[in-house]
Amino acid sequence: MARQAARRIQAYYNNMTKRNILITSALPYANGSIHIGHLLEHIQTDIWARFQRARGHNCISVCADDTHGTPVMLRAQKLGKTPEEFIAESKAEHEQDLVNCLVEYDNYHSTHSPESKELTQAIYLKLKENGYISSKTINQLYDPEKEMFLPDRFVKGTCPKCDSEDQYGDNCDNCGATYDPTELKNPKSAVSGATPIMKESEHFFFDLKNFEQFLRKWLSEDNHVQSEVQNKMNEWLDDLRQWDISRDAPYFGWEIPGEKGKYFYVWLDAPIGYMASFKNLCDRTDGLNFDDFWAKDSSAEVYHNIGKDIIYFHTLFWPSVLEGSGYRTPTAVWAHGFLTVNGQKMSKSKGTFIKAGTYLKHLNPEYLRYYFAAKLSSKIDDFDLNLEDFAQRVNSDLVGKLVNIASRCSGFITKQFDSKLSSQVIEPELLQEFTDASEAIAKLYETREFGKAMKMIMALADKANAYIAEKEPWKLAKNDDTKQLAHDVCSLGINMFKVLVTYLAPVLPSLAEKVREFLQLETMNWNSAQAILVNYEINKFKPMMQRIDMKDIETMIEESKEDLQAEADKAPQAELEDPIKDEIQFGDFDKIDLRIAKIAKAEHVEGADKLLKLQLDLGNGVTKQVFAGIKAAYSPEDLQGKLTVMVANLAPRKMKFGMSEGMVLAAGPGGSELWILNPDEGAKPGMRVK
Ligand code: 2FM
Ligand code: ZN
Repeated sequence: MARQAARRIQAYYNNMTKRNILITSALPYANGSIHIGHLLEHIQTDIWARFQRARGHNCISVCADDTHGTPVMLRAQKLGKTPEEFIAESKAEHEQDLVNCLVEYDNYHSTHSPESKELTQAIYLKLKENGYISSKTINQLYDPEKEMFLPDRFVKGTCPKCDSEDQYGDNCDNCGATYDPTELKNPKSAVSGATPIMKESEHFFFDLKNFEQFLRKWLSEDNHVQSEVQNKMNEWLDDLRQWDISRDAPYFGWEIPGEKGKYFYVWLDAPIGYMASFKNLCDRTDGLNFDDFWAKDSSAEVYHNIGKDIIYFHTLFWPSVLEGSGYRTPTAVWAHGFLTVNGQKMSKSKGTFIKAGTYLKHLNPEYLRYYFAAKLSSKIDDFDLNLEDFAQRVNSDLVGKLVNIASRCSGFITKQFDSKLSSQVIEPELLQEFTDASEAIAKLYETREFGKAMKMIMALADKANAYIAEKEPWKLAKNDDTKQLAHDVCSLGINMFKVLVTYLAPVLPSLAEKVREFLQLETMNWNSAQAILVNYEINKFKPMMQRIDMKDIETMIEESKEDLQAEADKAPQAELEDPIKDEIQFGDFDKIDLRIAKIAKAEHVEGADKLLKLQLDLGNGVTKQVFAGIKAAYSPEDLQGKLTVMVANLAPRKMKFGMSEGMVLAAGPGGSELWILNPDEGAKPGMRVK
């Protein structure tokens, strides 16, 4: 059987054409740490790339830091650093975090690199030469103190639709309206607090309309995008616009050739960063040729693995930019859903906004890699990391099932059989079931159905354990008549273990390496599953993986809360991030009737992304209904029964979802970072707040 299998696999490899593959993950922004949300994507990419390499393909994976734009520029200024210093520090941290999570890119580069500058400018000039770039003068909000144009997120003011104060320039957290920053009432620059003025400036545009036919065809063919994405894209295709690709100085980025003081918008050079990183690798790797992968007629495969929030950029802009400048387009863009933790958006205050560095201090990266793999599919659904399920699943599958096979079988082999596996396979059909699963499991990896692959592997692990439990080699080993049988059973156990670890190696590379040493194998690739070990010496078994202790998870959560505090402490004190508003008189303040209210009921509002509907009890039978934009920060069950403070005399406002009769007070920048004021139990509903 062994010979047959070996022949079969050899024939497969002989016939197989070696594929040239390039895979990328979205480039992390330089102005933030890598967190577990990023890790979902990087680990997904890494597992797929490792699988392809194990199969013998030439699979290159690259990534880089996304370094340009206003937020990076301002953050560096705040820290008293040059943008270059700041992005260099981030890159070192990002790279280290990824390596520690066993994410192995062939190159991790930067969009602030010579290759990026050269490619971005050349692509722009080509687009211009081909007639796809136009310019026009537009009006934008400008901060006269800071002397800069303000991106939407850097303008705050009163919502033009619902009059809610302190809203961002692009949409309202309270009523969900979207608008142009110039429509905000009483706008203020979030950078300096100054009142912005309108100012004209010439901008450059890439006209997507030119690519409508091309995009319609591209999106409908060859699985370039997932089917869920295709439906969404068809809506977008009806409304293609000119894309503003320029920004005015001061801006951290690449200057537009021939246009003084104009810079490329960060989203133009970001995807070009994929090419730049690859080019940097080609320039220092013999035999790796940029054009083989990126020329129009390239036969290589190029895949982009991204989050669902950036589909638009990758399936409309990016293929059009490539098409318009004479390059090949991606083989496919794969989008995944968002990561939630314990069923909710990651939250700094709840300690579930877990940075890679914090995770790694407490837990083994392979736990996370396995859990992600066990739940990942090729679909775009959101992904929940339930921390209890995580611990339970890892402990049960990896420690209880997988490693247990080796630890149960290896002791006898070392102690009683001179570390040598027996000279025969006692149940060849059983082992063949394991080796025969190779192609089915490979197909699941290939199609990114990692969850199904893990399920199949664990079903085999269950079989191995059931077999060992039934044979009870620990009893057989005690009796001279059955000692040989014990040897055969345990040797088969080790062989089954080897097959399983071979299949799991793309997910658990460090465990696979320990097993390779334990089994004294020279290499471990997909093919290794087929080689059967008989009459073969192995090393002494050493513990390979510890169980997860829930205490470590709890400590990690507490430390993630502290990370938030540390970040706040690091912020320069001289200027508040959210500047203090214009002075008011006591009389103005005195008009506001603040009261303690008890949240009697909190519920979701059908169709509202940001709002929760609250029934507030003010005592004496007085209740008020309030719609509050706190959905990202709280779930209704967290709020019910809590005390808070409300503006009780705010004139009722009719909102899309009903009447709102007041406002609850909350602190924080918005989104999930919002805390409602929560008085001590001594306070009673209806009490005046003085
Ligand atoms: O959304 C983000 O995090 C971006 N930094 C991703 C860029 S991906 C690519 F286009 F570079
Ligand atoms: Zn509003």
